[in-house]
Amino acid sequence: MLGPPGAGKGTQGKRIAQHYGIPQISTGDILREHVKQATGLGLIAKDIMARGELVPDELLYDMVAERLRRADCERGFILDGFPRTPAQAGWLDAFLENEFFEKAAKCLPIVIRIDVDYNELLLRLTGRRTCPVCGRIYNVHLQPPRVDELCDVDGSKLVTRNDDREEVIRERLLAYEQQTRPVAEYYERKGRLIPVDGDLPVDEVSGTLFREIATHSGC
Ligand code: AP5
Repeated sequence: MLGPPGAGKGTQGKRIAQHYGIPQISTGDILREHVKQATGLGLIAKDIMARGELVPDELLYDMVAERLRRADCERGFILDGFPRTPAQAGWLDAFLENEFFEKAAKCLPIVIRIDVDYNELLLRLTGRRTCPVCGRIYNVHLQPPRVDELCDVDGSKLVTRNDDREEVIRERLLAYEQQTRPVAEYYERKGRLIPVDGDLPVDEVSGTLFREIATHSGC
């Protein structure tokens, strides 16, 4: 699942994951966990993420490979935020071909890009709040919790992401334009890109995504 910061990859990825009973794998979430645990990778990624830049490609590959080899990925998975550079896309194609699709060569992954207007992205990112316990995503402007700053599901105090500050958001959007847009072009050339209008309300975007997945998932 491709799309700029704030496009709704996490929001929609969680819904699709729940519907199909497969994991949503967000490289951003995994990296944030490494930062929290102060692992070797986390210590390197911390400042890079705080500046809104991309973590170097070669630091991602072992982390993603280890996650995709876990048993819960056998029936399928949703990748949210990976690949983000043409080099990552090439690595992923080779990995999937070697480890997943050897026996089902026709079963290619579905590549969805969620497109959203720039000003709407700023509104979504500055208003985002996340539950640190269950991961549910809210927005103080667009999808507020029932009680201010508290999660509807478990009552935890919602948190603001460290990189959702306006100056960092601009860097993240720039990184998307310069480094990730070419990934969409890579898949477009292969005839595999499905662009989706993400400017619509959450339920409408979900409806489109489920329809597109149903249309393209035959293998
Ligand atoms: P990551 O965690 O992947 O962040 P991101 O790509 O910037 O995407 P976001 O999580 O900000 O947005 P989203 O599209 O998931 O939107 P959401 O659903 O939350 O990456 C963070 C950092 O990690 C990177 O900057 C980089 O440093 C590093 N990194 C990660 N992967 C990497 C990789 N592969 N290579 C190198 N570095 C990597 O929604 C946003 C808000 O909008 C929410 O408040 C939500 O409620 C609201 N919203 C969603 N949909 C709608 C809608 N339809 N209408 C109204 N509001 C909506």
